Amino acid sequence: MADKTVSADSGSLFSTILNLWPYMWPADRPDLKARVVWATVFLVVAKLILMLVPYFFKWATDALDGELNAPSYIPAILSTPVMLVAAYNVVRIAQLGLNQLRDALFAKVGQHAVRQLAYKTFVHLHDLSLRFHLERRTGGLSRIIERGTKGIETIVRFTILNTVPTLLEFALTAIIFAVAYGWIYVAIIAVTVWLYTWFTVRASDWRIAIRREMNDSDTDANTKAIDSLLNFETVKYFNNEAMEARRFDRSMARYEDAATKTWTSLGWLNFGQGVIFGLGMMVAMGISAWEVTRGSQTLGDFVFINAMLMQLSIPLNFIGFIYREIRQGLTDIEQMFDLLDVPAEVVDKPGAKPLEIREGSVRFENVHFAYDPSRPILKGISFDIPAGKTVAVVGPSGAGKSTISRLLFRFYDVQQGAVLIDGQDVRDLKQESLRAAIGMVPQDTVLFNDTIAYNIRYGRPDATEEEVRRAAELAQIGTFIESLPEGYRTMVGERGLKLSGGEKQRVAIARTILKAPPILILDEATSALDTHTEQEIQAALDLVSRGRTTLVIAHRLSTVIGADEIIVLKEGLIAERGTHRQLLAAGGLYAAMWDRQREATEAEERLRRARETDDMGVVLRRPIPAY
Ligand SMILES: Nc1ncnc2c1ncn2[C@@H]1O[C@H](COP(=O)(O)OP(=O)(O)O)[C@@H](O)[C@H]1O
Ligand SMILES: [Mg+2]
Repeated sequence: MADKTVSADSGSLFSTILNLWPYMWPADRPDLKARVVWATVFLVVAKLILMLVPYFFKWATDALDGELNAPSYIPAILSTPVMLVAAYNVVRIAQLGLNQLRDALFAKVGQHAVRQLAYKTFVHLHDLSLRFHLERRTGGLSRIIERGTKGIETIVRFTILNTVPTLLEFALTAIIFAVAYGWIYVAIIAVTVWLYTWFTVRASDWRIAIRREMNDSDTDANTKAIDSLLNFETVKYFNNEAMEARRFDRSMARYEDAATKTWTSLGWLNFGQGVIFGLGMMVAMGISAWEVTRGSQTLGDFVFINAMLMQLSIPLNFIGFIYREIRQGLTDIEQMFDLLDVPAEVVDKPGAKPLEIREGSVRFENVHFAYDPSRPILKGISFDIPAGKTVAVVGPSGAGKSTISRLLFRFYDVQQGAVLIDGQDVRDLKQESLRAAIGMVPQDTVLFNDTIAYNIRYGRPDATEEEVRRAAELAQIGTFIESLPEGYRTMVGERGLKLSGGEKQRVAIARTILKAPPILILDEATSALDTHTEQEIQAALDLVSRGRTTLVIAHRLSTVIGADEIIVLKEGLIAERGTHRQLLAAGGLYAAMWDRQREATEAEERLRRARETDDMGVVLRRPIPAY
């Protein structure tokens, strides 16, 4: 949505409805189209019937007054006042029923549109590039979908089921007045409605600002309350209850102010509307009363005009509310449409072919890459991973190691050079087939908030229970899972937080085993773990990578000793390459890193042994400093 600004002017109502139209008149759903047609029929019939209501009231009044001159097409049975009153009420009920029928019929159409658009947006979000998702807050995205779908409901309900019928009602009313009572009444009604609407829109704009202030302070107070409660312990540690309460109260005071203003402004809005409508009514009825005394209108005409105007005031009453809702709905929908307009960065070429794996060799050919043009990350990297072999990439953090794995996955396209699998440029392949061939165990595995079995099976959703179990065993986590009270059905918690780092990594390994890809990437798969756990997991990793083309990215060199080739990356270039022994013998960058890490590992090992023998006296018995 980078280059599109969000706006919600009146022109956008039309374009939004145009955008929504294919969803409300879906080409492949005759049943929904039939609903739209029927809903429209009921809408029109209900409004026509509504126009009868004041007529029956008028005739009943004239009948009571002894002056009934109802047109001859009214059946004779309706000529008594009681029957006319009955008819008056029956007609009212009938049009109410038709309105509900219309809404019920239309509900499915609206909800279908909501679902289709939400689906389309969701699919689109998964098509967008990693770059897009890294720059966006996921919470914000789901809010956009949530609000967008609600916006569709609002627009559908208020424009189609409310604004259009109201306009129809105005038109019918105007025709009736023009025909039966003359243009003067039409003029009065037109001026009144125009003034009323103008005032309502102006006042609503003013109130929208006030409401925003109210919502903001409400959110603010809420955030403060939640934050304070989340920090319950901290508050107690520092005895800061009173301060927290004051902070909360300050936010609530802002809310109090804004909320009060919201209510008083509503009072002004309602009063202003009342004045405008009252004046219009006064003029219209005044003229009618004068005509009755002159004898050119009956008492029935007088009540008819009153009833018609009162009827008209009902939809007018909602104008402010509807205006506000439509404005908000438009903004929300536009944000969602803007999201749908964001182009996917990495797309299949027309005529892209599926990847053909012959042996699974990987080749980086003079690869240049930058996330941002002004800051190159890879400046000409070439290497081969022969089929079934393991190549390790090491180097300082930020050197571009993970970038290499993202390029192999084609999360981004290279700017120069090429990434090839069995001689096929990844840019010429169908992304789906490419990603099916590559397995990935990342540094930080994030799990779905579901069962362990679900998370392992994610590697291949059609795997049997037996296969899941075997994969878990190969990843050396089977025994652990079976020791859990709920076994494979244990929930892993939000992002997998109920499992330790080592357990999560083993789940990630198990699901990669299930996927059984010919090419494997291990991106610092063990560096978040302590050396001890790392050694345990290393065995599982060695097992998985056996016979597979493997790219190991590692920070800790002890895990790459066995690699067929080690590439040392530095500042976007390959600084050294060779086997572990060759590189040590060369005495360069790698040898220096190796020495540093060995010292660190030994220190860690000493500390661990010390902890195990409970010889922590040095640390624990330090005297407490006196302040
Ligand atoms: N999506 C991104 N947008 C911009 N810069 C990025 C992005 N991802 C990584 N970088 C930068 O690219 C450099 C290499 O990153 P990476 O390949 O993840 O390093 P590492 O070797 O530690 O795995 C880092 O300096 C990082 O800040
Ligand atoms: Mg990395």
